[in-house]
Amino acid sequence: MEKILIANWKMNPVKENEAIKLAKASDQKNVVICPPFVYLQSISKLLRKAKLGAQDAGWNESGPFTGGVSAPMLKNFKVEYAILGHSERRLKFGETDEMIAEKVKSALTAGLKVILCVGEPAAIRKKGTSASKKYVAAQIRNDLGFLNHKSVFLNRVLIAYEPIWAISTSRDPSLKENPEMIFEMINFIRSILNFKFLIHNSRVLYGGSVTSKNIKRIIIHEEISGALVGGASLSSKEFNKIIKITYGRK
Ligand code: PGA
Repeated sequence: MEKILIANWKMNPVKENEAIKLAKASDQKNVVICPPFVYLQSISKLLRKAKLGAQDAGWNESGPFTGGVSAPMLKNFKVEYAILGHSERRLKFGETDEMIAEKVKSALTAGLKVILCVGEPAAIRKKGTSASKKYVAAQIRNDLGFLNHKSVFLNRVLIAYEPIWAISTSRDPSLKENPEMIFEMINFIRSILNFKFLIHNSRVLYGGSVTSKNIKRIIIHEEISGALVGGASLSSKEFNKIIKITYGRK
């Protein structure tokens, strides 16, 4: 299966013309661009090769949810993917596993593909690998537990393993990720998907300070299906370097 790169722009850039410029420069095959909601419409019109993703999606189709945007609304703008359960939404917007599970359900029902983010905080990683695995396994169980192995939705669920302490804006300097550790967690997630959901061709990505300097060491493992790139996707030069290294394009 071809690798996939997800560009998570978060709440950037401030100006629409910059967003358009960045989208044009990042418009490559196997790339998913996830801009803020307000740019989805203009970016949906210009993409030729890349796919469009949203950074969140509400858990209801419509109703009294001030500020909310629902999955069926996103579908109208050619959105194909939704990032759900990102650690910033869990921590800064108070999203619980129960809320995330509802969002996953709603997005899948609307026909979106879900990029479910999981990952342990620094305090858990400091306790060791088995504590980290336990934490991530609970997130997957709670966020996807409503799906059974016969669900037609399973092939539309991607998982991004993003240890919170490795994300560029919340780095814990006392911890350092390395390809072996990432590889071990990704294989662990894959084994949960295999045994619990019987998904044998699951896509499990890595995210957390991915740049053109470290992408090669990460992407080289066959088991790692791609990367979720935050900060580095905001520079078209840097993001294009990541694309070139990932796909070996000239
Ligand atoms: P980063 O962000 O690449 O800037 O670490 C990744 C993310 O939070 O999705």
